[in-house]
Amino acid sequence: MRRSIVAGNWKMHGSREAVADFCKALRRAPLGAELDVLVFPPVAYLGEFVAGVGDAGVAVGAQDLHPAAQGAHTGEVSAAMIADLGGRWVLTGHSERRSEQGESDALVAAKFGAALGAGLRPILCVGETLAQRRAGEAEAVVAGQVQAVIEAVGVDGVAQGAVAYEPIWAIGTGETAAPDEAAAMHGLIRETIGAADAALAGSVRVIYGGSVNPHNAAALFSEPDIDGGLIGGASLQAESFLAIVAAA
Ligand code: PGA
Repeated sequence: MRRSIVAGNWKMHGSREAVADFCKALRRAPLGAELDVLVFPPVAYLGEFVAGVGDAGVAVGAQDLHPAAQGAHTGEVSAAMIADLGGRWVLTGHSERRSEQGESDALVAAKFGAALGAGLRPILCVGETLAQRRAGEAEAVVAGQVQAVIEAVGVDGVAQGAVAYEPIWAIGTGETAAPDEAAAMHGLIRETIGAADAALAGSVRVIYGGSVNPHNAAALFSEPDIDGGLIGGASLQAESFLAIVAAA
């Protein structure tokens, strides 16, 4: 397994034209084989993105999934459908889903398990709000979010995917966690995993998200506990996304 991941989360942005332009730029760029480069476009463009990147060395994923295999769930998408479209990864528990859709730790854990069941690699997103950080609750919140998934799928299940630490106060705000501050939380995430299986604590990939850009990426990625990044705003333009890939 490769050590580093650079993942772009397009959120609800993009168009067919933007996908075509972005894929063209990725096909031209030398990506190197040492890291996993992932893009999470809106699910509407998943198939087109997969076709567009071709063999550029980029894996494509969805931003969310429903935990059920199929059924009467209007508007939802299953893990198997994502895989059928050529998706290989999926985000679970992004803070925008936790806050806008009220997703609980239990639901996020069920989604993580459903993704594994369909052969997808899930990324578990965790992170605290500013109020929780100020109240000294950040560690407990993040450890609880990780623990919920360990309890559902086991620590080896978590290790098949990855964890993204995204402090909510840093998402889309231009304010990044200081590299040592982020690394401390990555250490806590590894401790939480290590309490269940010491051998896996070091091998689980823990990436950082929250206002990563071409200027701050190298400093963040130089922390030994930070295995790459989940990039929102700066992943929408191929140029800035590729600059972050280069930093990794
Ligand atoms: P941002 O988003 O890079 O725009 O802060 C990160 C994310 O939400 O994954």
